[in-house]
Amino acid sequence: MACSRVCLGVLISLILFHKLHASSSLSLSVEKLKEDVIVSSPKPTFTAGFYAVGHNAFCFAIWYTNSPNTLVWIANRDHPVNGKRSTLSLLKSGNLVLTDAAQFQVWSTATATTSKQAHLRLHDNGNLVLLEDSSDNAVLWQSFDFPTDTLLPNQPLRGSTYLVSSRSGSNYSSGFYKLFFDFENVLRLMYQGPRVSSVFWPYAWLQSNNFGNGNGNGRSIFNDSRVVVVDDLGYLVSSDNFTFKTSDYGMILLRRLTLDHDGNVRLYSMKDGENKWSVSGLFRRQPCFIHGICGPNSICSYEPRIGRKCSCSPGYRWFDSEDWSQGCIPSFQLWCNNNTEQKSRFLSLPGVDFYGYDYGLFENHTYQQCVSLCSRLCECKGFQHSTSRSVNGQCYVKTQLLNGHRSPSFTNSFFLRLPYHLHDYDDSPNNNGLVCGRNGVVVKVLERPYVEEKENELVKFILWFAIAFGGIEVVCIFMVWCLLFRKNGMLPREGYVLAAATGFRKFNYSELKHASKGFSEEIGRGGGGTVYKGFLSDARVVAIKRLHEVANQGESEFLAEVSIIGRLNHMNLIGMLGYCAEGKHRLLVYEYMETGSLAQNLSSNSNELDWSKRYNIAAGTARGLAYLHEECLEWILHCDIKPQNILLDSDYKPKVGDFGLSKLLNRNNLNNSSFSRIRGTRGYMAPEWVFNLPITSKVDVYSYGIVLLEMITGRSPTTGVQFTELEAESGHHERLVTWVREKKKKGSEVEPSWVDEIVDPALGSNYVMDEMEILATLALECVKEDREGRPNMSHVAERLQIHEHDLNGLNKD
Ligand SMILES: *[C@@H]1O[C@H](CO)[C@@H](O)[C@H](O)[C@H]1NC(C)=O
Ligand SMILES: *[C@@H]1O[C@H](CO)[C@@H](O)[C@H](O)[C@H]1NC(C)=O
Ligand SMILES: *[C@@H]1O[C@H](CO)[C@@H](O)[C@H](O)[C@H]1NC(C)=O
Ligand SMILES: *[C@@H]1O[C@H](CO)[C@@H](O)[C@H](O)[C@H]1NC(C)=O
Ligand SMILES: *[C@@H]1O[C@H](CO)[C@@H](O)[C@H](O)[C@H]1NC(C)=O
Repeated sequence: MACSRVCLGVLISLILFHKLHASSSLSLSVEKLKEDVIVSSPKPTFTAGFYAVGHNAFCFAIWYTNSPNTLVWIANRDHPVNGKRSTLSLLKSGNLVLTDAAQFQVWSTATATTSKQAHLRLHDNGNLVLLEDSSDNAVLWQSFDFPTDTLLPNQPLRGSTYLVSSRSGSNYSSGFYKLFFDFENVLRLMYQGPRVSSVFWPYAWLQSNNFGNGNGNGRSIFNDSRVVVVDDLGYLVSSDNFTFKTSDYGMILLRRLTLDHDGNVRLYSMKDGENKWSVSGLFRRQPCFIHGICGPNSICSYEPRIGRKCSCSPGYRWFDSEDWSQGCIPSFQLWCNNNTEQKSRFLSLPGVDFYGYDYGLFENHTYQQCVSLCSRLCECKGFQHSTSRSVNGQCYVKTQLLNGHRSPSFTNSFFLRLPYHLHDYDDSPNNNGLVCGRNGVVVKVLERPYVEEKENELVKFILWFAIAFGGIEVVCIFMVWCLLFRKNGMLPREGYVLAAATGFRKFNYSELKHASKGFSEEIGRGGGGTVYKGFLSDARVVAIKRLHEVANQGESEFLAEVSIIGRLNHMNLIGMLGYCAEGKHRLLVYEYMETGSLAQNLSSNSNELDWSKRYNIAAGTARGLAYLHEECLEWILHCDIKPQNILLDSDYKPKVGDFGLSKLLNRNNLNNSSFSRIRGTRGYMAPEWVFNLPITSKVDVYSYGIVLLEMITGRSPTTGVQFTELEAESGHHERLVTWVREKKKKGSEVEPSWVDEIVDPALGSNYVMDEMEILATLALECVKEDREGRPNMSHVAERLQIHEHDLNGLNKD
């Protein structure tokens, strides 16, 4: 102990000393977060340094200089270090070590060299390399060999390494999904949860001898080089013959492949100079095939027309209704006595399958035989009965209900075991679906207490000695430094050091107050705040939203949620540039939309909003919402779609605003009565809200349908004056809907089209009849009372896209 102190003291001195002479030692300190970073060269695409992963918790990581929340590599993802006295040091021995609070070594490259010229370098492909000398060939260690959850272009993933997803959108620790080569040389995706694990990609029933069927998706087991790599153009090649082309294949873009925390592999790309990532490919189109996504005893359903969700099996309830991955627990108790047939009843769940965990496959069993088999077995939770392969049928007896999945393509039923007398199990809305604003991300603050060591007298003495000795040395060093500094004008350092990273960032309150000239120019209201126009010091025009009613939320919680919203990037979603959380102030900074909201444009009575613009606004909005519902990492429902929240840029391209805000507002009311559940705006709210039915992505589809009707007819659903023909329905507002429906019903009998009668008079006859009919028909489908009958957003987007530019390439599986 004492010795290690002496050694450390001397060592530090040596490092400092050495740095000046041979420049082979480098030390980055966590306190100098902003200055002590390494920037890639010759292009400053990447930055390496300490990244805050929690309150007083930091990881040494590499990120994009322009997108500082996109980490591509982390040294110590499971062991963050303290915000005080933690350093990354290149020792004279050639070992790169990360020290927590000047006490514990939490990570090192475990390298050694006798060379005096070892140095660290960040290449502009994102590879951090430790080089033995000045030639670029003698690589001692490189980050490309130890990927975390991301592969960069031309970074090979080899047999010995694998990608592991992060725990959640805000927690960078190792999560539950793994991309790796198995012993059969096949690239696979695996769920490795706390209790169970299973491989879910490629399909398990594609046995190895079926691989390599030459259709491009078959896998070969014969090539043992086990390597997969994505190139700059967006082409992925794996040694097992799996290949993948991104939808924007061929363009030189910034690209990355990331195993996201939801278990899907996505390829992202970003245009140079832009700060937006877009998904240009994903491995699994069907999210329900990803194991572990819904937790035990729950059933995942996804259908292009319905969207996706997890719901508890009948008789089960959520373990934690805020976190689907924890699954459901039985709300009953099964009394169990081996070999005595227990009184159970079996509930048929058509089209449901639970993958894996068979107690056994019993051939030639009738349904009754399966029932008695399951009833005699304590562990039996239910069974699948299939009649496809033998006369009597066969049963798959399940001891665990995992990876549950409902699909219309399953022809068999699952028979769920319930206690005989349990009939009125909880099948209420609360037991199903998703509550707006609680989309499964739970953020906890990670504390890193600073550990004070007990020091004994001897250690103290040696320490003082070392300090005194070091002090003298420091004076000498200072003198040498002065000399050097004079000579070179600057202290040399490995790589280029850049102080401020651009992109999504934190603002000071005073800065925003100044930018908005004391919050003087109000440009909008709603969604829990007031929006002001502002001018940043770099001359950018922004919209600053000041939130009300968030008093009880801590800054780190706020930041965690804001940074999730800030990471959502889509050309039809409004971009968030940053936030401010100071004292009671909570502000969000968005890009400014010149043309204002759709609502303003619709009510302005000018003829600016012509037919083609309206059509493109409809299509773009659908794409933005489809992304929120299905493609982005967090499953986000908007819950407040209305013309006020659809903003237009100078080309009238629509961007959806105010998404994700339900997470920031009212979070303290979430556990209260069903009243606080109601979100949204009268006139646009789906009937589910009013009738207390499960809330799914279909609530947004409904509101979107109303917006379409408003764009077509020019009539607002909230002002009833124009609707003299039909008076108010009881219950919720749907006069606009009823009016259009009536017109359609009458109109189909007489020519010309019914559409003529509903079109906004401001359009005159300047519209395309076919497109108008598509839009009006689609709008009526979206506002169906029965949510199952409404299309989902990606389906809407697809149908509207036919008249637009065709995007393809994402339909892999
Ligand atoms: C790999 O795929 C190509 C076509 O993409 C095919 O010609 C070749 O036979 C496949 N190799 C194996 C080993 O299956
Ligand atoms: C094995 O895969 C590697 C990488 O994809 C490829 O270069 C090599 O030609 C393959 N070998 C054979 C025998 O197919
Ligand atoms: C049922 O039998 C199994 C082994 O046959 C045993 O492990 C289990 O403890 C028994 N359960 C009860 C409740 O007796
Ligand atoms: C299937 O089971 C029935 C009795 O349930 C038996 O008579 C029949 O021989 C069995 N068939 C086969 C192929 O085992
Ligand atoms: C991240 O997840 C890990 C593992 O579940 C947990 O131990 C850690 O506390 C989490 N960190 C934060 C900041 O929530």
